[in-house]
Amino acid sequence: TAPVQTLNDGTVLPGLGLGTYPMDDAEAERAVAQAVAAGYRLVDSAANYRNEAGVGRGVLASGVPREEVVVTTKLPGRDHGYRETLRSFDESLKRLGLEYVDLYLIHWPLPRVGRYVDSWRAMIELREAGVVRSIGVSNFTAEHIDRLERETGVLPSVDQIEMHPLFPQAELREVLAAKGVAVQSWSPLGRGSDVLGDPAVKKVALAHGRTAAQVVLRWHVQSGAVPLPKSADPRRQRENLDVFDLHLDAQEMASIAGHTPHRLGGDPRYHEEF
Ligand code: A2P
Repeated sequence: TAPVQTLNDGTVLPGLGLGTYPMDDAEAERAVAQAVAAGYRLVDSAANYRNEAGVGRGVLASGVPREEVVVTTKLPGRDHGYRETLRSFDESLKRLGLEYVDLYLIHWPLPRVGRYVDSWRAMIELREAGVVRSIGVSNFTAEHIDRLERETGVLPSVDQIEMHPLFPQAELREVLAAKGVAVQSWSPLGRGSDVLGDPAVKKVALAHGRTAAQVVLRWHVQSGAVPLPKSADPRRQRENLDVFDLHLDAQEMASIAGHTPHRLGGDPRYHEEF
């Protein structure tokens, strides 16, 4: 299992988790049960992944007590707004088949819709009601987070952002660190291909006798981020969790993220996903 991080609300979060996009219910159920049994203690889902039912069943089938597993899900764009968020959360909880969610995130800011602050007020209430342990955001820029803080006085505990060696997010991470907002990385392996085949990554992997995936995940951990690699394959799941006895030096760290930044996913300022 991975070491933990303490969030700004006092709760603790594992230092690495399982991504579940794109898995359907059946695949997610198998993959999550197997990952939790293998030592994963953080599982990431979203209403828009359409696999919350499978994720919930996988957690309950893992053989590990529910309260030892951190379950994350996310509010979809179509449900932004105060009342809509409360209803959407109930629907997520029902699909998950759980009594509470550990971490609830606003999936995208949708600044042109302009309702993420209303959603945030609802999330603050969900946390106060105890049905959500921690609240956070995903794909929020410094500007969106500033607005939450200004208008509600409550900072998110987590910002889950696209982060990998092709898009290391150094500036945003500095801002988040200064505010005490923990960073989780989605697509930490850059969705495979280019990142894992990168000559700089391969060189470091060879020097340590580890795989490219392990080196990239270690780069996240040493950068202070919580990576959420996705795999349903038991061997890869174990490989991806086994990065806590590996140490990269400053030069290796720098060599891994030495590219011109290149996003693979949507730009939070414009991306509209409902
Ligand atoms: P698969 O799901 O077939 O195991 P990301 O987490 O950045 O979205 O990347 C996920 C992609 O990386 C998936 O295609 C996944 O393949 C692949 N992947 C996950 N873990 C490993 C690993 N240890 N080695 C190689 N590829 C991996």
